[in-house]
Amino acid sequence: MPLRLLALLPLGVATAIAATQQAPRTTADGVYTPQQADAGKDLWVMRCQSCHQPHNGPNFKAKWMGRDLGQLFEYTMNEMPKSDPGSLSEDEVASAIAFLMRANGMPAGATALPADQAALARIRFDSVRSAPTSTGPRR
Ligand code: HEC
Repeated sequence: MPLRLLALLPLGVATAIAATQQAPRTTADGVYTPQQADAGKDLWVMRCQSCHQPHNGPNFKAKWMGRDLGQLFEYTMNEMPKSDPGSLSEDEVASAIAFLMRANGMPAGATALPADQAALARIRFDSVRSAPTSTGPRR
């Protein structure tokens, strides 16, 4: 939910929502760990590489830039690997996405990518950082 919508809610409700939701982030903010991307690379070599190289070309970026990682997570959970869809765990898909982010030049950070679609839906695939929270609205 955009932060400005919180202003329309009664204060107690808005505070409760703000406390349980992190501010939206982008993939330029450092949203995965190097270890997670390494695990994703191992998975990729074993289960993905037989059909395709890591998606780091202009077509992949053009398709996914501006969309949220929840959509990429859902797609990969439901459709991949094409030979055995639905066989990956949520942790495996999160690490595969971390690897894809690294292959697309996105920086690593201190916190791992959540293996959770709702949380991933709050991270946008973008090469531009989100506004720093210190200067963002405080409620
Ligand atoms: C049996 C072959 C096969 C395997 C194995 C496979 N894929 Fe795919 N993958 C495909 C095909 C074919 C497409 C394109 C599908 C389409 O365009 O409809 C695709 C597309 C994708 C896309 C979307 C790319 C885009 O440009 O939007 C992602 C992400 C993806 N695969 C991830 C994975 C991951 C992660 C694994 C390993 C766990 C994997 N795939 C294993 C065949 C495979």
